[in-house]
Formats: sequence, C-alpha cells, structure tokens
Amino acid sequence: MILALESSCDETALAVFDPARGLAGEWIHSQIAIHERHGGVVPDLAAREHLRQVAPLLERAQGFWKGSRVSRIAVTRGPGLAACLALGVASAKALALAWKLPLSGVNHLRGHAWSPFIAVHGESPGDFSGRLGGLLPHLGLVVSGGHTLLFCLGADRTISVVASTRDDAAGEALDKGAKLLGLGYPGGPLIEKLALGGRADAYRFPRGIIRKSELSFSFSGLKTSLRYLVEKMPASEVAERRADLCASYQQAVIESLARKTRTALEQGQFRSLGLSGGVANNLRLRETLAAEAVRHRVPFLAARAEHTGDNAGMIGFAAWADPAAAANQGSGLRIEPSLGIEG
Ligand code: KG4
Ligand code: ZN
Repeated sequence: MILALESSCDETALAVFDPARGLAGEWIHSQIAIHERHGGVVPDLAAREHLRQVAPLLERAQGFWKGSRVSRIAVTRGPGLAACLALGVASAKALALAWKLPLSGVNHLRGHAWSPFIAVHGESPGDFSGRLGGLLPHLGLVVSGGHTLLFCLGADRTISVVASTRDDAAGEALDKGAKLLGLGYPGGPLIEKLALGGRADAYRFPRGIIRKSELSFSFSGLKTSLRYLVEKMPASEVAERRADLCASYQQAVIESLARKTRTALEQGQFRSLGLSGGVANNLRLRETLAAEAVRHRVPFLAARAEHTGDNAGMIGFAAWADPAAAANQGSGLRIEPSLGIEG
C-alpha cells in the first residue's frame, strides 16, 4: 500500500492506494473557509494550517489502515507554494525515516493528469494496464486555478505538453471575473451557479488565441474585456445583468478550452480525451468536452468529483501508475515549486 500526502496549496490531504484494490481511503481538510475572506490563498496561512492538520489527518488514516502494511510513502514535490510543499515533504520524510520506507516525490500536475484514470475499487494492476493500453495515446486537459494545459500521455506513459497558457489559467480567469462582478472566492462555482439563470449569448467576450492551428491558450484579454464592460455600466445594471454576464463570460472560457482541445484532437492521433483539475467540476465544460470526444469518436474520461480539485488520491495513484514517480528519493527529495508537467 502506498500512503500519499498532498499539501501543495490549500488542501491538506492523505490517501492510501492499494495496487491490488485501488484507492482504499482518502482524507482531506480544505482551507477554503480560511482563505475566502482574503479573496485568494494566503501562502503563510496555508502553510500554518497544513502544519496543524497533518498529524490529526494521519491519526484518522492510521485507524483505517491498522493491520495492513504501508510499503511506500508518496508526497507532492511540486509545483505549488514553497512553504506548503516544504511542510508536506518534511512530514513525508519523517514518516519514511521512522517506518524505514521508500519515499517518492510526485509531480502534482502529473497527479491531475492521471486522475481521470483512477481505479477506485477492485481493479487489479493487470486489468488496469489492459484498460490503459486501449486508451493511449491520451489527450488530457488540466484546468485549475494555477494551470491550464493540454498534454499527451503516450503509449509508453511519457507525458508531453501539447498546449499551455500564455497568461492566466482558466480558473484564475473565472476567479478574477467573479471579483470584477462583486462575487466571492473561489469564483468558478459562483459563476457557474449564476450562469444557470442567464443567457450565454447576451454578451460577446473574446475567445483567446483566434488562429485555429495555434495550440496555446490566453485568458487575459477576456478578463480585460469584462473589466472595461463593467467599468462602463452603472452598478445597478451590473447587479441586474449579473446572470447574463456570468453565463457569457463562462461560455467564453469554455469555448476557448474546447476550441484548442478540438484542434489538438484534429492534429493528433489520440485514443481518449481526459479532463481534470478544479475547473473540471464545471458541468457545462464537462458536457462541451464530452461532445468533442463524441465528435472525434474517442472515449471521454473525466476525473470523479472528489479528484478534480487538489487531493491525495491522485498522488497515490500517480506514484503507482506513472513510471516517473517510481524512484525512491529518500532524504534527498527536494521541493520544486515551479515544476512543469514534463518534469
Ligand atoms: O484544482 P483546484 O482546486 O486548485 C488549484 O488551482 O490547484 O482549482 C481551483 C479552481 C478555482 O479557480 C475555482 O474557481 C475553479 O477551480 N472551480 C470551478 C468550479 N469549481 C472550482 N470553475 C468553474 N466551475 C466550477 N464548478
Ligand atoms: Zn492542483
């Protein structure tokens, strides 16, 4: 069994992944209530909270795995907030030392990349390899508050970037848009909720990089265009038209993501399409990408709700499924706050 620890941003999470049984247990402590009032994650507060939460979470998890053997510790080594990563890595090193176990540093972005493949119950390694074989090469879209990228998971399980963002991440664009509209944090779910009562064609916002063949995202123009629009509107009108503004803004983000995903599907030879990261919670985005997958006659794999945002299940799973995470890095393991998905 692999014991996995994730603390790269504002979730403290533990998971136990059993190669014979799939994901056997997950425990998470979210800090949203702490950061909400600041309108974003405050790194020092986040690190302090991780410090407070790791031991109680471990205690809860230990009650669960009593009797079974943990054979490896896995921890997120990057990318993420330096102080938060350091806390997680130090805790994992202490456990590995105390229990004389190998320690693997896992790339957080690869955790997101692998999350649509997580076998939750009862899939043997052999069954998983067989299933995976039919799905590679895989095109994946990771969309979160800090990252927006398309990647290819090749037949040999190597990962390469297909498209990335030139400026903001999609989640960041939603969070900043929500702020301009006087909504709370995180903005993505609030925009999604309000958008349900609005018209997506009420306002026309830019769709990022227009040239169809160019594989990169851009969301800063979208955000600026909302700012100009809102600045020109009387506050009462902004309040009155909030649902239409949310629906139109959300639509621009989703279409930008879907268009580049379509281009990548057209340019490559992919056998499946995946979606993960916090923004993957968005129902409209899920439906839009599912339709792209149907168009290209490939299966669509979306991360389950509990594995869209940051979680330790994806770290434990990647530690097992991703050949890049297999090495024992022991006490030499270092944090890498700016790690890319290929690292
Ligand atoms: O992966 P995540 O939990 O944290 C990291 O950034 O790593 O992603 C958080 C992002 C935020 O920008 C949040 O607004 C967005 O995911 N998000 C959503 C939804 N739920 C979370 N965006 C759109 N619709 C949602 N339902
Ligand atoms: Zn993340």
